[in-house]
Amino acid sequence: MSLTRLLTVLGVFFSRVGGVLRPSPVDLAQIWDAQTLVSFSVSQLDAFGAISSGDCPYLSRAIRCGSRGPKALRERKRSLVWRLIESYLAEEAFLARRQAVSMMRHVWSNYELRAFGKDELRPVSGTGANNWGGIGQTLVDALDTLWLMDFKEEFHRAALWVEQSLSFSKDLNVNLFETSIRHLGGLLSAFALSGRRGLLSKAKDLGNRLIKAFPVDANGRKANIMSGAKSMGVDAKSIGAKFQKLLNQAGLPSEVVDSVLGKGALLSEQMQPSLPSSDINLGSGETKNLAGFISLAEAYVPVEWKYLTALTSNCTYSAAQDQVLHAINRTLNLEDHGLAMIMLTPLGHVFPSPQNRVSLGSRGDSFYEYLLKEAVFAKNQSYSLDPLPKKLWSSFRAKLPELFAEAQRVTRPPGPRWPQKTENASIHRGHGGSLGGWFESWKDAPSPWLFLKEITPQHTVPKMDHLICFLPGAIALQVFHSEEKSQMDLQLAHRLVQTCVHMYWRTVSDLAPEITRFNLHGLVDDAGSMHNILRPETIESLFLLWRTTKRQVYRNWGQRMLCAFYRTKTRFGFASLENVNGMPTQRRDSMPSFFLAETLKYLFLLFSEDSVLPLEDFVLSTEAHPMPILGQNGLGSWPCKGPRPNSMTSGAARSEPTAKAPSTGNLSPPATTPPVSESKRLCDSKRREELQEQIREAERNLQKLRREYGTCVSDPACWQSGYTFENCCFPAPRGNMQCWDVEFTYARCCR
Ligand SMILES: *[C@@H]1O[C@H](CO)[C@@H](O)[C@H](O)[C@H]1NC(C)=O
Ligand SMILES: *[C@@H]1O[C@H](CO)[C@@H](O)[C@H](O)[C@H]1NC(C)=O
Ligand SMILES: *[C@@H]1O[C@H](CO)[C@@H](O)[C@H](O)[C@H]1NC(C)=O
Ligand SMILES: *[C@@H]1O[C@H](CO)[C@@H](O)[C@H](O)[C@H]1NC(C)=O
Repeated sequence: MSLTRLLTVLGVFFSRVGGVLRPSPVDLAQIWDAQTLVSFSVSQLDAFGAISSGDCPYLSRAIRCGSRGPKALRERKRSLVWRLIESYLAEEAFLARRQAVSMMRHVWSNYELRAFGKDELRPVSGTGANNWGGIGQTLVDALDTLWLMDFKEEFHRAALWVEQSLSFSKDLNVNLFETSIRHLGGLLSAFALSGRRGLLSKAKDLGNRLIKAFPVDANGRKANIMSGAKSMGVDAKSIGAKFQKLLNQAGLPSEVVDSVLGKGALLSEQMQPSLPSSDINLGSGETKNLAGFISLAEAYVPVEWKYLTALTSNCTYSAAQDQVLHAINRTLNLEDHGLAMIMLTPLGHVFPSPQNRVSLGSRGDSFYEYLLKEAVFAKNQSYSLDPLPKKLWSSFRAKLPELFAEAQRVTRPPGPRWPQKTENASIHRGHGGSLGGWFESWKDAPSPWLFLKEITPQHTVPKMDHLICFLPGAIALQVFHSEEKSQMDLQLAHRLVQTCVHMYWRTVSDLAPEITRFNLHGLVDDAGSMHNILRPETIESLFLLWRTTKRQVYRNWGQRMLCAFYRTKTRFGFASLENVNGMPTQRRDSMPSFFLAETLKYLFLLFSEDSVLPLEDFVLSTEAHPMPILGQNGLGSWPCKGPRPNSMTSGAARSEPTAKAPSTGNLSPPATTPPVSESKRLCDSKRREELQEQIREAERNLQKLRREYGTCVSDPACWQSGYTFENCCFPAPRGNMQCWDVEFTYARCCR
């Protein structure tokens, strides 16, 4: 629907009642830009229409009508109308937030019942699977989500399992990166939020096992080159010749090789490994590079490891990360180049393969994300921490435009090849009106689209992984933490997220495929990658953009995505889709742990108050695990000597703390966390009295508002006595409670 058409429809709503002060479509357009207006759902617009014509929105509890009816409302002030609309939107955000919680409850209750302690719950068959070697992946990854959503009893049951039953002392090969971001990060953030010391001990135990994958050994010495080279099946003497051969096979001309690697880099390089191995045996510490190369993104995971240093005062963990970044900077000349190839050798050089390329998607994504997030993590301590990440993030930002590709959207859909929402899909999604339809179609999207391409030394690859959709959020986070709020950056982030959002809206399921390609005319399918595995990146970006700008459009888009994710619900969880344009029954019996750790958490946070997780105090890791920013939450000053000079030439890592290591007790949150029953605490009589006083206060305010403005007012008492404390003390508010607990939208409900 075009904007003109939309405004005409709104105009019909708003002219229903002739009142001098009613808002006109022009007024609406002053409050919201065109794109935001188009992003509202039909039921939202219905509600605004009702409010402005003196009715109450269908099924709203925040806004109720009294007996005096619309007539009394004609004289209302325009400002009140906007206040009611704001109330209505707050109520919607509240319901969306509650929906995210209820999705987590659905998943977790089934996980506890059917797969407790297993790596994953299979959402279709309802069985548990130890497909990651039996290290409680979903449980560990989900701990902080449980805490934030206030599932405290569930949290403590899970934490107890970690402390008593989870063992990393086993003969198991794990991927260093995945285990660092999911397990190490999960344990550390759960400790940061709850203060349960058992979780920190587990994290230390895991850290001490994983650190052996780094070439800096426990004593700060460089490991022997031979172990790194052997794992690639070559020895140090022939390694240069072998690379040369591979490069020739790959058909790369030697000037290209020189320009990426640096002239003569291959043969003159001292053969010391500088990157960690990709895989490590938790029991024996034996390392391997299973793929034969090391992914850029997998080499560098600073936030988790530096937080571990902050908690333990052991600088070995942090030094290993600095060493990696300095090595990459040096071998790839990253400070100048800004962008790096995604496949590297253990020495940190470009791995010779025709598949190698510059990409912000798979194998590249979190490397760049972590340049920024480490700088944010160290914000307050930048005098003592390494300044290199910040520099490299700036280099990256400077070179980013080289990856931009614009596509003009076509003015007419090119016949049936354009993916159409099928009738079946629209039945599946529900009709318009109070069943929650959205206006936006491909036609409403502004053009040209902005894409991020991939590049090899010779080619441009016109594809954009869904993983790249982390980037608009990262740019927003940069703006959030910078003094001057760059409108240009926010504009760029917006254009990028718009492309990501459109990857969702153009499919039948409203969910994006794993990979989208593009051509001159816009987005096209990648036939081999039409699946969706419930990835979080776009939601994450919407969350960070919302926090930075407070533009309603990001919540509107998030709400539509929430509904789309909700439709993947199965009896036991939520299932990945085989094909986003296929039938909803084409499911995979798979629910990755990041759906709980990230997707549901970001959905929850997008619709929560800022105070639930202030971004001034926390930075969320690449797996959405919140880590306290240094200098916050009782974290003391940085214990290590800062910035390391070029570590490749320095031989030994500097791992001694600058001062006598303070005891861990000075650095960490309070240790006592008796597993009290949270709902009991809420229901104790003091809390109850507080709440009742709040309600009386709210009711007094309400009376006042009624006297002042008439009967249709936002009713703050709803918020106190109603569904805010759903598990607790207060009787359900009027209405059919069942309606509110079974489904999210107003749709299934009755007055
Ligand atoms: C720091 O951690 C390393 C790696 O596990 C360990 O070998 C070393 O003993 C620790 N240093 C201190 C001072 O605890
Ligand atoms: C990064 O690498 C470049 C090129 O090798 C070098 O000039 C620069 O000093 C390095 N930066 C740091 C902070 O080591
Ligand atoms: C750390 O940063 C926060 C805000 O980002 C600020 O409020 C706080 O004072 C800073 N702390 C230190 C020690 O600089
Ligand atoms: C819609 O559903 C019906 C019955 O389930 C099926 O026969 C038909 O092929 C579907 N149409 C499309 C376009 O998928």
